[in-house]
Amino acid sequence: MKDLFSVAGKVIVVTGGSGVLGGALSAHLIEQGAKIAIIGFREESVLAKLKDLARYGSDPLGMAVDCTKEDQLVTARHKILERWGRIDVLINGAGGNLPGATIAPHQTIFDSSIEDIQSVIDLNLMGSVVPSLIFGKVMAEQKVGSIINVSSMAADRAITRVFGYSLAKAGIDQLTKWMAMELALKFGDGIRVNAIAPGFFIGNQNRRLLTEEDGSYTSRGKTIIDSTPMSRFGDITELNGVVQYLCSDASKFVTGTIIPIDGGFSAFSGV
Ligand SMILES: NC(=O)c1ccc[n+]([C@@H]2O[C@H](COP(=O)([O-])OP(=O)(O)OC[C@H]3O[C@@H](n4cnc5c(N)ncnc54)[C@H](O)[C@@H]3O)[C@@H](O)[C@H]2O)c1
Repeated sequence: MKDLFSVAGKVIVVTGGSGVLGGALSAHLIEQGAKIAIIGFREESVLAKLKDLARYGSDPLGMAVDCTKEDQLVTARHKILERWGRIDVLINGAGGNLPGATIAPHQTIFDSSIEDIQSVIDLNLMGSVVPSLIFGKVMAEQKVGSIINVSSMAADRAITRVFGYSLAKAGIDQLTKWMAMELALKFGDGIRVNAIAPGFFIGNQNRRLLTEEDGSYTSRGKTIIDSTPMSRFGDITELNGVVQYLCSDASKFVTGTIIPIDGGFSAFSGV
């Protein structure tokens, strides 16, 4: 098939589209001819990202929405349907950590802020559950669609310091499998739910954890590189291929999977 990996004309909603990961994916997908609606938390960042994305083609839609809030997402769904009449793909790219839910080297788990742990779980787990229900309903009615979640290396093994985040990302893996099963059983084989599990990419949230001010690696950064067979951090554009595959007909029979994009980190025993 000639255009097996094509996303041209697909309506793709990207939560966290004003962030590093969601923004980079949106730019790539617009370049490939997709119609993109970005959702971010802060109006200024959404407007700035829309301006930036205009360089890549088409005319993206942007909305400041709290993706843990059902009513706000229902309004966003209405705006997207008004503009394009359908939703083909949802990328759940909103997420991140909170300082109080991260355990510093001199602390233990008992120093964690329970409130911050709750907030991190709300954002990273419910912030994907709620959009999946609101936008997934459109896909169920259309009997076609693809949901792409963002898991993490912290989902299935213990990575020091990021306690609340790990709990939430483990939930993302189960959300992926559970919704894949439910939607295929009840709404047919046109709806798929998968996740990417990015390895280590230097972004705003982890730059200070992984690199020193002079650009050299911290000891955590060095440990990660030593545990990555490809011996480097990822470049954010290296997520594009797998995400485009999951958006496209090339992955028509693929559902319930969690695909690592990690330079071999999750495959490596360390020996
Ligand atoms: N960058 C990495 O190395 C990496 C690795 C693995 C996983 N991830 C995951 O990728 C996702 C995005 O990370 P990033 O590096 O782009 O972070 P980022 O901080 O650059 O972007 C976060 C995005 O989420 C949005 N957001 C935050 N709270 C929100 C809310 N309540 N409602 C709506 N939007 C909200 C922000 O507006 C922003 O657009 C996260 O789930 C993160 O855990 C990132």
